[in-house]
Amino acid sequence: MARQFKLPFVDLDRVIETKAGTSISRIMERQGENAFRDMETAALKDAVGQASGVTSQVIALGGGALLREENRRMVESTGVVILLMATLETLLKRLTTSSDKRPLLKGNLRERLSSLLEQRRNHYNSFHLHVDVDGKTIQENMYHIQLLLGRFHLSAMAEYDVIVQNGGVENLGDMLKLHDLQNPIIVTDDNVAKFFAEAITTSLNNAGFDSKTVTFPAGEAYKNLETIQELWHGFLTHGLDRKSTVIALGGGVIGDIAGFAASTYMRGIQWVGVPTTLLSMVDASIGGKTGFDLPEGKNLIGSFYPPKLVLADPQILRTLPEAEFASGLAEVVKHGIISDPELLNLCAHGLDCVKDDLEKIVKRAMAVKIKIIEDDPYEKGYRAALNLGHTVGHAVELVSKFQLRHGEAVAIGMVAEAKLAERLTVATKGLSDAVAEVLSSLGLPVQIPTNLRREEIIQAMRVDKKKNAKAIRFALPAEIGRVELVDVTDLESVL
Ligand SMILES: NC(=O)c1ccc[n+]([C@@H]2O[C@H](COP(=O)([O-])OP(=O)(O)OC[C@H]3O[C@@H](n4cnc5c(N)ncnc54)[C@H](O)[C@@H]3O)[C@@H](O)[C@H]2O)c1
Repeated sequence: MARQFKLPFVDLDRVIETKAGTSISRIMERQGENAFRDMETAALKDAVGQASGVTSQVIALGGGALLREENRRMVESTGVVILLMATLETLLKRLTTSSDKRPLLKGNLRERLSSLLEQRRNHYNSFHLHVDVDGKTIQENMYHIQLLLGRFHLSAMAEYDVIVQNGGVENLGDMLKLHDLQNPIIVTDDNVAKFFAEAITTSLNNAGFDSKTVTFPAGEAYKNLETIQELWHGFLTHGLDRKSTVIALGGGVIGDIAGFAASTYMRGIQWVGVPTTLLSMVDASIGGKTGFDLPEGKNLIGSFYPPKLVLADPQILRTLPEAEFASGLAEVVKHGIISDPELLNLCAHGLDCVKDDLEKIVKRAMAVKIKIIEDDPYEKGYRAALNLGHTVGHAVELVSKFQLRHGEAVAIGMVAEAKLAERLTVATKGLSDAVAEVLSSLGLPVQIPTNLRREEIIQAMRVDKKKNAKAIRFALPAEIGRVELVDVTDLESVL
């Protein structure tokens, strides 16, 4: 966990042994359990004292370390406890070779262990964040821990933390300090500014920053070079230097233009993503793509320029118009189909349940994209799985002259591509119906509107993906949780 999050690591037992100059079993034998627990409390005090400085750290505790109320209070008031829980059988397997090193387990191992587990049952059950580790790999357990904490660390393109936290924007100032970021300027649009600029400015000011704000009119029409130029001038007017930090507070449009302006201003200054739409939380804010549109087409100019931090606060979505929210859900469903059946299941319960479970859903959906882009940051291979629904979706969006929102078009695209997968026997029959059912329950369209001409959609697909390409690579769903990249030459067969 410490390695994954790139945080300092403390193994409390090691600290105690180093300090005492002997092993824990010796301490127990010679001085008894109480003396050992006193040493444990003292070591914990030291470790926690260090943690309250500028950075976070991971502390490994023994199974009995929090039995003392004093220890538990100390730990829970300064951090978060994750309980790794294993069954008796798993523990027995692990301990048969090393039980002699564990003084509390001397004698009949099965008996001693089950009585210890029984004694501690209520204690262990009283921790909220549980990971059942039986039969799982370290990577699987780590994935689960990241979901529980709502904290991810990306390393493939650059090092940065992604944090999901209800109410998190109120702590933005402190988070900037923790990440050693300075002199912030907020870039946002007029819709978002209305709701959140004040709260965020207050958070920054309370943390000792003299925060500044630049606001633009909302909408894709402003994702252009003119806006970028205005931003560059704004940065100059506000005296931003190479150490300053751009805060992109908004949806995908703001993230793309603020990130691009940051990537080019003074050859690149730091930026932080604070996504405020569902789409930008689960998709646009992670992955490091920034850019703007030209009159000839969308996203034609851009750079790979990852932020230093992404803070997603699901509570911020409360003010998002319903249609924007549903549109973002199409990307969430997409991530479920790509590799998280449980996420798709959560979406299948309909809009109201999704809203109740929003924090969990945002974390899971972000986790899917993060896993893929960490494996393939520059889209040399499997990152293309994220294009699921987009080959048909982009074409439908274009031919509708953007009357359909991006997510609506992607929903239609996912069903069309699932049908294609069935015809190509990449998927078994019934998959497209299952996908359509979830999307419909969220209020998303699943059929190409009859007024859009199929020939135009096919032509748009051809133009969208390099005119000369003989085949178009589709990301097709093979089953819920698995996507295959398939080259399709006969485009007429797609619809
Ligand atoms: N960089 C990437 O990897 C990536 C990925 C996907 C999409 N994108 C880009 O993202 C853009 C679409 O993003 P989007 O869907 O977030 O659109 P958007 O940024 O235009 O936001 C949609 C609307 O919602 C409003 N809004 C945003 N947050 C709000 C809130 N909390 N409450 C009330 N209103 C709010 C905005 O003002 C806007 O009117 C496109 O330009 C697309 O190209 C980028």
